[in-house]
Amino acid sequence: MADGRLVVVSNRVPAAGGRVSVGGLVAALRPALEAVGGLWFGWGGSIGPADAIERRREGRVEFVTCALTADEEEGYYEGFCNRTLWPLMHGMPERAELRAGEYERWRAVNARFAALLRPFLEPGDLVWVHDYHLMALGSELRAAGWEGRAGYFHHIPVPEAELWNAIPHHLEIAAGFEAYDLVGLQTQRDVARLEWYAPAAAGRMRAFPIGIDPQGMRALAGQHPADAFEARTGRQVLLGLDRLDYTKGIPDRLTAFERLIRRRPEVAAEALLVQWSAPSREGIADYQAERRLVDDAVGRLRALASPSPVEARHEVLPAELVAAALRDADVCLVTSRADGMNLVAKEFVAAQRPEAPGVLVLTDGCGAAEELTDALIVPSGDIEALAEAIERALEMPVEERRQRWRSLAATVEAGNVQEWCRGFLATLAGGEAPEVSEP
Ligand code: F6P
Repeated sequence: MADGRLVVVSNRVPAAGGRVSVGGLVAALRPALEAVGGLWFGWGGSIGPADAIERRREGRVEFVTCALTADEEEGYYEGFCNRTLWPLMHGMPERAELRAGEYERWRAVNARFAALLRPFLEPGDLVWVHDYHLMALGSELRAAGWEGRAGYFHHIPVPEAELWNAIPHHLEIAAGFEAYDLVGLQTQRDVARLEWYAPAAAGRMRAFPIGIDPQGMRALAGQHPADAFEARTGRQVLLGLDRLDYTKGIPDRLTAFERLIRRRPEVAAEALLVQWSAPSREGIADYQAERRLVDDAVGRLRALASPSPVEARHEVLPAELVAAALRDADVCLVTSRADGMNLVAKEFVAAQRPEAPGVLVLTDGCGAAEELTDALIVPSGDIEALAEAIERALEMPVEERRQRWRSLAATVEAGNVQEWCRGFLATLAGGEAPEVSEP
């Protein structure tokens, strides 16, 4: 990586002391940045005055965080990021809302972050900006005089061009991609769509499917040796593990399981669906409504049999319990309507036992479906196809499970997070791959 440091910029920055953080971005970036070393700049998660900066060092990483003002949290984070861009990027225009002044607030936060970061940058640094919150940071940094290398990675899906066009000022957003030397996307589908939408920056776009730290996942699971599922009572466990978001298709999998039990009541005695959802963006009405949908679907399942064929929790659970759950589950249900990658699919594969692996069920809206082709893949939102895939997974002979898992595991191991980081940074630097030691 030339001679400079790596400077990561993201909306969300891990809390001090490595406390649990919900969401794939921090989970993926933390080991990557720890391996390379450098600086991580972004929102520390607090509400306060615009000039409040905090600095701390943990190992090889210096964290520089700022607060958002209450106005910014409302207009930038909850507003333009999560009520406008989020549903549009996930192909759900019917959920998108744009309130007056929120685009301007979003741009202003991008400009403010650029102004705060600029004095920390040194010649030779590689700047790596993450996700839709800060898409415009590149052009703001250029306006602030930064001439060094700058890359952007888009963690979420790219929609069809007409959905971008629904955003007033979208031409400014499209032009913003030209400020970056490299624009990374999760899938080839995303690359094709963004090239179509922002053709002037097409030459700098490439797919870098994000990975995980497979060894780290297994080590974490090892800290919880007992079976993660107290309510198992001899049944196979179907696991759903998500941030509680309407993009994740949680009601779809609950409804598909309900449909299977109504057709074949004996399944309730053979399988338990465990759904652990981490509360997220709770101030936004669509997230509150999604929780009610999940609760209703869980209630319907509970009424079907005793003992209950479902266990549902809405909380952030300890990381080692979550890792053990991914190891001990017989089937993992990743059923997003649309999603950037769904790292949980890769975590499941990495955590499983090679001698008796479980089955991964994916919908084709998950970014992971482009790489993990030996999963059982069904069309997003197709409840009947999902019910059939669940049935097939529960009945799959161990030899077929092993065969599928071996191919999935090879992909997950090879495309791990260190390789993702190395690949992006080598391309951004335009030279040799940087030295990345194991975390
Ligand atoms: O992975 C997509 C993403 O939006 C990340 O950028 C984000 O940190 C994560 O989901 C969790 O969402 P939030 O930061 O809004 O809690």
